[in-house]
Amino acid sequence: MKIVSTIKEVRQEVANWRKEGLSVGFVPTMGYLHEGHQSLIKRAVEENDRVVVSVFVNPMQFGPTEDLDSYPRDLEADAKLCEATGAALIFHPEPEEMYTDGFCSFVDMNGLTKELCGKSRPIHFRGVCTVVSKLFHIVTPDRAYFGQKDAQQLAVIKRMVTDLNIPVEIIGCPIIREADGLAKSSRNTYLNPRERQAALILSKSIFMGRKLVEEGERSAAALIKAMTDLIETEPLAKIDYVEVVDFSTIEKTDTIQGETLVAIAVYIGKTRLIDNFIVTVS
Ligand code: PAF
Repeated sequence: MKIVSTIKEVRQEVANWRKEGLSVGFVPTMGYLHEGHQSLIKRAVEENDRVVVSVFVNPMQFGPTEDLDSYPRDLEADAKLCEATGAALIFHPEPEEMYTDGFCSFVDMNGLTKELCGKSRPIHFRGVCTVVSKLFHIVTPDRAYFGQKDAQQLAVIKRMVTDLNIPVEIIGCPIIREADGLAKSSRNTYLNPRERQAALILSKSIFMGRKLVEEGERSAAALIKAMTDLIETEPLAKIDYVEVVDFSTIEKTDTIQGETLVAIAVYIGKTRLIDNFIVTVS
């Protein structure tokens, strides 16, 4: 496995693979990789001849008061995990490589980004769409893999490649959880032991919500109330949102019908965590 830091090197590697007729899978990440990322890389390795993993903490998707500086980084551990999982190349650029002097072009979206994380993180998805479209142009993968944990991001990226005719297949992969239910996230490392315990309220409310839907609940308001009431039993939890939306449009829905995303964002102390489930109801 190689680690490269320039766009030129990535293009050269991919061009060599293409000459041999090999397919390319891509897993974009911000590093500090855990089993959630590993499951994406594993799937990409199964479905492609070569796999590229990008490790880039993208400054453009962080708001001014967010955790860009403290976001955890460990390239050595990331490289070990990528190599052990079968990736062929890590692309680890400096911000200056991605955003050269005078950079002023962005990819933005009018729909899908107004609700959920878009409300409390107004510039986030512009940063995500811009960097992911740049990465797609650099890596030119056949398939790209995204976790369902960032369900709104997955919906946004699917919309972006459709709207902009980017020739890549977007593959959503299931949420990977700790044994006690907490969804894996690089941000879990911010939690102290008391907060780590309190964070379980997210997955508990997700599991309870999913059960209610399986038992026949179809009212978004009733579901939101039940999940909110449960989260509020945890003194360290402060709700950012508990929402029910159509998964493809990320617009609020009153009734659980079709492919529906039930998503939550909750602060545990200073750490903002997200979780969700998707149900298809005919
Ligand atoms: O999900 C992430 O880690 C990031 O948003 C992504 C897709 C790598 C873009 O920076």
